[in-house]
Amino acid sequence: MTILIAAPSIPTAEWTGACLHIRGQSTLAGRVPISGAKNSALALMAGSLLCNDHCHIENVPELLDVKRMELLLAALGVSIERQGTALTLGTASLKSDRAPYELVNQMRASFFVIGPLLSRLGSAQVPLPGGCAIGARPVDLHVRGLQAMGADVQIDHGIVQARCRQQDGRLLGSRIYLDYPSVGATETLMMAATLARGETIIENAAQEPEVSDLADFCTHMGAHIQGAGTKTITIQGVERLHATTYTVIPDRIETGTFMVAAAITRSTLILSPVRPDHIRAVIAKLEDIGVAVNLLDGQTLEVRGGDRHWGTDIETLPFPGFPTDMQAQLMALLTLSEGNSVITETVFENRLQHVAELCRMGANIRLKGNVAVVTGVPSLSGAP
Ligand code: UD1
Repeated sequence: MTILIAAPSIPTAEWTGACLHIRGQSTLAGRVPISGAKNSALALMAGSLLCNDHCHIENVPELLDVKRMELLLAALGVSIERQGTALTLGTASLKSDRAPYELVNQMRASFFVIGPLLSRLGSAQVPLPGGCAIGARPVDLHVRGLQAMGADVQIDHGIVQARCRQQDGRLLGSRIYLDYPSVGATETLMMAATLARGETIIENAAQEPEVSDLADFCTHMGAHIQGAGTKTITIQGVERLHATTYTVIPDRIETGTFMVAAAITRSTLILSPVRPDHIRAVIAKLEDIGVAVNLLDGQTLEVRGGDRHWGTDIETLPFPGFPTDMQAQLMALLTLSEGNSVITETVFENRLQHVAELCRMGANIRLKGNVAVVTGVPSLSGAP
C-alpha cells in the first residue's frame, strides 16, 4: 500500500519536499531519540525578551516554527546564534516593539511575544494571528488579561496596539480569572507579570507541562513564580531578569506520536528521553487499546503494539486530560482497532479534518459536530 500526502501549504522556500510517499505494512524497530518540546521552545524563546542580557537555551528542536520565531526575535533586535540544538539569544537591547505581520501571520505562537514586549518596553504592537486551520483561535483572553494589568489595548487595522498606562511604563500586578485555561493566554500573562509591579494571580490557569517549563525558565532568570502546573499561578513582579542557561523538556506530542507509530505497525520501539508524567492520559488510552507500555527507567519507554487492539472512547481536554494534539494520531490507530470508539474533540471547534481523508483510505468513521464514531476495519488502503 502506498500513500501520497501533499505537502502542507507552507509559503516558504525552506520547505523543499513536494509530498511524502509512505509505503505501508512495514514494521518498525529501534530506539528513537525524542526532541525538545516545540511548544515549550517557542514560549521560552518569546520569554527570553524579558531578560536584558542573554539566554542560552538547549534542546531546541530544528523546526520551521522555531526558525520563524528566530526571524521574529531578530526583527525585534535579538541576536541569535545556533549551535546544533542550542540557541544563544542576545536580548540586551531591543530595537523595536513591533512584530512584523508576515511572521506573526505564519504562526500563532508568535503572538505570545506581546506579553514580554509590553512588560519589558511598556508598549507592543503585534498583528492578530491569522485564521487557523483548526478553528478560530481568538486572543481575547490574552487581551483582557493585559488590560487588567494596566495596559491600554486597541486593535487598529488588524494590529493589537498595547501600551502601559502607568507613567513609568510598568504593568501592575492583578488578579485574573481565565474563562478557559488557555495555554497561550496563561503563558502571555505569566510572562507579562514577571516584570509587573506587585503580585499577579492567574486563576483557572492552564496546567500544561509547557506552562511549567516556561515558569521554570523564568524562575531561572530570577522571576518569582509559584503554582505553575496547578490551576492558580502567583507571580511577584521583579524589576529585572538576568541571564540564564536552560534545557527544554522532551516533546510529549512527539513521544505520543511514536508510541502510536509502534502500535499501529505492531512493532516495538524504545523512546528516550521521555517524561512519563507528561503523557499519562495517552499511556492510559494506549493500554486500554491493548498496547504494552513499559517504563525501562525514569526516562525510557518501551512500546509494543498488541496482537489485537480494541476500540476505546476519547475526549480531548486541557492537561492533565487527553491532549487535542494527540487526537488525530489516536483516531488513525482506532480505525484499525476492533469495535466502536467515540472521539469527542472539545478544545478546538474544527479539528476533525483528517476524518474525511481517513475515510478515503477505507476507514469507517461517522462524524456529527465535534464527535467522531469510529468502527474498526481490518485494514486501510493507500490513497493520494
Ligand atoms: C497551544 C499549543 C497547541 C495546543 C493547544 C491546546 C502552542 C504553541 N500551541 O495552543 O499545540 O493544541 O495549546 O493544548 O503552545 N481561546 C480563546 N481565547 C483566547 C485563547 C484561546 O477562546 O484568548 C480558545 C481557543 O480558541 C481554543 C482553546 O481556547 O478553543 C484552547 O486554546 P489555547 O489553549 O489558547 O491554545 P494555544 O495556546 O493557541
